[in-house]
Amino acid sequence: MNKALRPAVIAGNWKMNKTRSEAKALLEELRPLCKDAGCQVIVCVPFTDLETAVAACQGSNITVAAQNCHWAASGAFTGEISAGMLAEMGVRWTIVGHSERRQYFGETDETVNKRIRAALDQGLGVILCVGELLSQREAGITAEVVSLQTKAALQGVSAQEMGRIILAYEPVWAIGTGKTATAQQAGEVCGILRGVLEQLYGSQVAQAATIQYGGSMNAGNAAELLAQEDVDGGLIGGASLKAPDFAAIIQAASR
Ligand code: PGA
Repeated sequence: MNKALRPAVIAGNWKMNKTRSEAKALLEELRPLCKDAGCQVIVCVPFTDLETAVAACQGSNITVAAQNCHWAASGAFTGEISAGMLAEMGVRWTIVGHSERRQYFGETDETVNKRIRAALDQGLGVILCVGELLSQREAGITAEVVSLQTKAALQGVSAQEMGRIILAYEPVWAIGTGKTATAQQAGEVCGILRGVLEQLYGSQVAQAATIQYGGSMNAGNAAELLAQEDVDGGLIGGASLKAPDFAAIIQAASR
C-alpha cells in the first residue's frame, strides 16, 4: 500500500485552551472551512469542552477527541476521567502519551500502555504520541527512543486493533517552540516508526497505519512535511487554535 491509500488525518490538540463558549465559537468558524476536507479532521479538546464540541460537530466531518484518559473503569482516582466516561458522551478518540503528560504529569511507558488498553476496550481510537528529547537526538539515540516508546505502548494491542491507533511522531524539542523538524527529519523518523510497526505486526498493518508528525506544524510548513512518504498527517497544537490556520493545514493534507 502506498501513501495515497492511507487515511490522512489532521488533528488539532487544543491543550489547556478554550472555554466552552470559545470552543463553540472556534468550531462554528471551522465547520464551513473544512466541510470539503479531503482528509480526516479531529479536534482534541479539554474535558470541559467535550460535550460542547460533540454538539457543535454533530453532522459535520469533524470528530471529537479527548487529550487523555485513565486506565481504570472507575474508582478512587481523584481528578481523573475514564475511557468509558468519554465513550458514553460520544467522544471517539483520545490522545495518549503526549510529551507534556510524560514531562509534567509523570506519564511513563507503562501507564501509556495501560491507558491505551483501556481506551481500546471502550471502543475509542488512540492517537499515541512518541518523540525524543533534544538531548537524545544530539546523542544519536532518536531511533532507539521512539522505537522503545512505541513497542512499550503497544504491548497487548492486536493487529486488528491497530486500525484504531494513529501514531504521532512529536520530537519534544519541536513542540511549541516554533522549531519544526525538517521535512527530512520528520520523514525519516516516521519511516523508522513504520518499520517498528512492520516488526510488530507485519507489512500489511504497517503500510495501512496512519503516522502523523507534530511539533510546530503550521500553514506555512505543512505541505512540505506532509509530502514525505511516511508522514500521513499532523498533530497540531498552536496552529489549531485559529480556524483559518487550521483550515489551511487541512487543505494542505487534502487529497
Ligand atoms: P505545537 O504542538 O504544534 O504547538 O508545537 C504540537 C503538539 O504538542 O501536539
